[in-house]
Amino acid sequence: MKIRVLGSAAGGGFPQWNCNCPNCAGLRRGTVRGRARTQSSIAVADSTDASWVLVNASPDILAQLQANPVLQPGRAVRDTAIVGIVLVDGQVDHTTGLYMLREATRPWRIWCTDSTYADLTRGNPVLNVLSHYCGVERHAIDVGGTPFAVEGVPGLRWRALPVASKPAPYSPNREHPVPGDNIALAITDEISGRSVLYAPGLGEIDDAVWNALTTASCVLVDGTFWTDDEMILLGVSKKRARDIGHLPQSGPGGMLEWLGRLPPSTRKVLIHINNTNPILDEDSPQRAELARRGVDVAWDGMEIVL
Ligand code: MLT
Ligand code: MN
Ligand code: ZN
Repeated sequence: MKIRVLGSAAGGGFPQWNCNCPNCAGLRRGTVRGRARTQSSIAVADSTDASWVLVNASPDILAQLQANPVLQPGRAVRDTAIVGIVLVDGQVDHTTGLYMLREATRPWRIWCTDSTYADLTRGNPVLNVLSHYCGVERHAIDVGGTPFAVEGVPGLRWRALPVASKPAPYSPNREHPVPGDNIALAITDEISGRSVLYAPGLGEIDDAVWNALTTASCVLVDGTFWTDDEMILLGVSKKRARDIGHLPQSGPGGMLEWLGRLPPSTRKVLIHINNTNPILDEDSPQRAELARRGVDVAWDGMEIVL
């Protein structure tokens, strides 16, 4: 299996257009050493690597497609290597790229849970809009964990796990999430038997998620915030990380503690990084701590082969 990180930042990207937090301002001025990052998306292929599944459609999808020519094989006057789209939630940073994909020459095959489908046909009705362009062939993801395959990429087996996080503000479930508002994806290569757990929004690690983390060869997990009160201390928001469904990395019960209990052989990668997170500054002590712990920070264009 091949995983291509198209966008490694959380909603807003890095730098965020209206943000002058130390990271965003420092990156613009050239005083912070780091990489700009687009909003959250990955693409996954089986070992043949000819057809790809897009996992989340970022607002930055057009720039991401340009930056990843493997997704445009050029076999016909209108073409794409993307044969299906899987969504982990209905949030803006994971779905608005769908508008940009409206010129497709056939209906998009889109896999999502029932509650995400409800958000994407009501509060954020992008799927209704797309039906006036290329059309949508929707496939339901079972939150009970029934494995599924994406047509055109037969070498991969997919399984969803409901995760504690938050649906978007326009979801009727925002304050009382239901299973399926946010999922993690366990993706297994049928030939190598190796798997990745992709969980860009992970507010809590329950037994099922822990079990999936321990069986994956590689974990691509929520790297949104370093501390729970990071946005409050910087004066950019009144919300805590946990209020919006993201487990911070540092401190007791934080993501790093959990990752530290995984075997050393597990590849550990943080993804969906918010622009306020000090790990984006490559010279920060927080970034050095990640290096000491063997935890990588995803970047746009990163490729993982499993
Ligand atoms: C989140 O996952 O909390 C989002 O990145 C929020 C957003 O897209 O605004
Ligand atoms: Mn997000
Ligand atoms: Zn910022």
